[in-house]
Amino acid sequence: MFDTDRTAGTQVAARSNRPPMMEIRGLDLWYGAKQALIGVDFDLYGSEILAFIGPSGCGKTTALKCLNRMHDGTRDLRMSGRITMHGQDIHAPEVDPPLHRRRFGWVAQKPNPFPMSIWHNVAYGAQIHGLTRDRADLEAHVEDCLRRAHLWDEVKDILHKAQGTDLSGGQQQRLCIARALSTKPEVLLMDEPTGSIDPIATAGIEELMDTLRPDHSIVIVTHSMMQARRIADRVAYFHLGRLLEIGATEQVFTAARSPEARRFIAGQFG
Ligand SMILES: Nc1ncnc2c1ncn2[C@@H]1O[C@H](COP(=O)(O)OP(=O)(O)OP(=O)(O)O)[C@@H](O)[C@H]1O
Ligand SMILES: [Mg+2]
Repeated sequence: MFDTDRTAGTQVAARSNRPPMMEIRGLDLWYGAKQALIGVDFDLYGSEILAFIGPSGCGKTTALKCLNRMHDGTRDLRMSGRITMHGQDIHAPEVDPPLHRRRFGWVAQKPNPFPMSIWHNVAYGAQIHGLTRDRADLEAHVEDCLRRAHLWDEVKDILHKAQGTDLSGGQQQRLCIARALSTKPEVLLMDEPTGSIDPIATAGIEELMDTLRPDHSIVIVTHSMMQARRIADRVAYFHLGRLLEIGATEQVFTAARSPEARRFIAGQFG
């Protein structure tokens, strides 16, 4: 469970009394003959930012994709273990995969807006899932998503005139976040979301994550130890397919139990 001896100790301690939103237990995953995840266990709580860290190829992206069933349909992939969300097995026959996936927003390393107008980039998800009542409601929803992604003021006059791909890198990434919010997800999965943008845009995305935290759980993969330390409530350290350590951010950064995590955090490998 959580450690309480940190600045935000009260908040973290309060969280530990709540049941997890997602429970991941004994997760094994093979790509063909290669085992990429080995007995991975962790919980994800509501309103928290959990950072996945670890050397390249240790299974961070693979673990992230298990949460929203993004591996469904991948050939030669085998998985075992149990993942529950609000107590329900996400692989139960009665779970509709597209509906499950809609509860998650995905943000990739490289901003990848659709080749359509800014407005349509955001409206699309809500439209295909029928999440708004009428045109006025959809207009308001698009504005709300763009405001929450801290992009509205920069694009409000060019919503239909400019393509998503016309924006700067940092703006494109905020557009992708607005697009991810469009389906009203509970969880945001972010795979190195600031890996290809500059420090100012990175600061903007981190601030944005902070404002989204009260209403979302966020799992972020990052290669920046400073970023993990700045924004995450908890950190999970992956190593050769195993989740070796998970704990409150300051505890992992100052007193990791596993020698591998300590060496990685100290910059001695990876
Ligand atoms: N589609 C795939 N087919 C076969 N092997 C794969 C596939 N995707 C990932 N792998 C392998 O699984 C292991 C874990 O990969 P994964 O992408 O999860 O690592 P990662 O921790 O996200 O790395 P990085 O930090 O470089 O993004 C690696 O050895 C990788 O080569
Ligand atoms: Mg990865």
